[in-house]
Amino acid sequence: MGDARARGLAAVSAAASADELAEVETTLFGRKSVLGQIKQTLGSLDHEHRATVGRALNEAQLALREAHAAAADDLSTAARREQLRSEQLDLTESLAGPGRGHLHLVTQTTERLEDVFVGMGFTVSEGPQAETDWYNFEALNLPAAHPARSMWDTLYLDLGERTELGDGEGGEASNVLLRTHTSPVQIRVMEVQPPPIYTICPGRVFRRDTADASHMPVFHQIEGLVVDRGISFTDLAGTLEEFTSAYFGKAISSRLRPSYFPFTEPSAEFDITCVLCEGSGCQTCGRTGWIELGGCGMVHPNVLSNCGIDFEEWTGFAFGFGIDRLALMRHGIDDLRDMYTNDTRFLAQF
Ligand code: FA5
Repeated sequence: MGDARARGLAAVSAAASADELAEVETTLFGRKSVLGQIKQTLGSLDHEHRATVGRALNEAQLALREAHAAAADDLSTAARREQLRSEQLDLTESLAGPGRGHLHLVTQTTERLEDVFVGMGFTVSEGPQAETDWYNFEALNLPAAHPARSMWDTLYLDLGERTELGDGEGGEASNVLLRTHTSPVQIRVMEVQPPPIYTICPGRVFRRDTADASHMPVFHQIEGLVVDRGISFTDLAGTLEEFTSAYFGKAISSRLRPSYFPFTEPSAEFDITCVLCEGSGCQTCGRTGWIELGGCGMVHPNVLSNCGIDFEEWTGFAFGFGIDRLALMRHGIDDLRDMYTNDTRFLAQF
């Protein structure tokens, strides 16, 4: 019996995995185990022997059960530790080496866009993500109840008494919202900076959109604004074309289609050659060879006036497009949501 117990304890401590331990359990406690066989012979022993052997059998079984439970505990702790180690995220902000963290694809794209525009002579401007109705809508030629407000599904903030968001006309709490586009930064720039203005405004924007393959409720845009003497629609077209080939390469060009935005007149949609098929037509571009990037147009005279700029002397253009969708196209990603589920196997590819 002592021998069986010692061998049993040795087998328990030699088990290197939960599977091996389960096998040891069968050999130790099954009907065909040494202890199991001794148990079956108990009935044939006389009373005195039965008591002695029975007690020794119980002790041996107890010791083995305890050793087995302790080993199971240790193995599951070790397995859990190993799992945590293998799933550990390296949040180090470094672009070097596999397994090291790096900037998110949208941040990389934003920085790359900034570099291209700075190279073209633009400055970079920023504005708050929580805006007043004035900056997000009214100053952009969208008075209250203007039907075009429904172009942007807006999230309003309830700040109670607190309104510390600038001195525009929308000061009350109910007029504070999460900006639906980067266009309010145009107003903030024009209010404080006399023309000439050549600036881009990248940033996070918010809409009450349901997440799907091409929409997120929180996404990113980049706005461009130029105000100078003698700026015309051809300057807008030329700037967008210059940007497109600087960012995407010579194979990709741009085109403008008539459209409507309240803050630009005339307005256009800005398309680029489909970066996946380079214009020959594929599923992503609906076989047209073109992909819509954003909106643009000549800054509406009312917008210039709202910012105290004389529209007889100055003219300008503005454009705005989605950075997330741009990154999606550039890298041939199918679904916008993949960029935000934070699966490191996906993120590590960029
Ligand atoms: C605007 O937001 C205008 N402010 C653009 C503009 C600026 C026009 C300056 C004229 C002058 P629009 O709502 O179309 O326009 O959005 C622009 C781009 O944002 C879209 O083309 C798309 O690329 C991106 N976008 C819009 N909604 C979403 C969303 N839910 N998720 C991801 N990207 C989006």
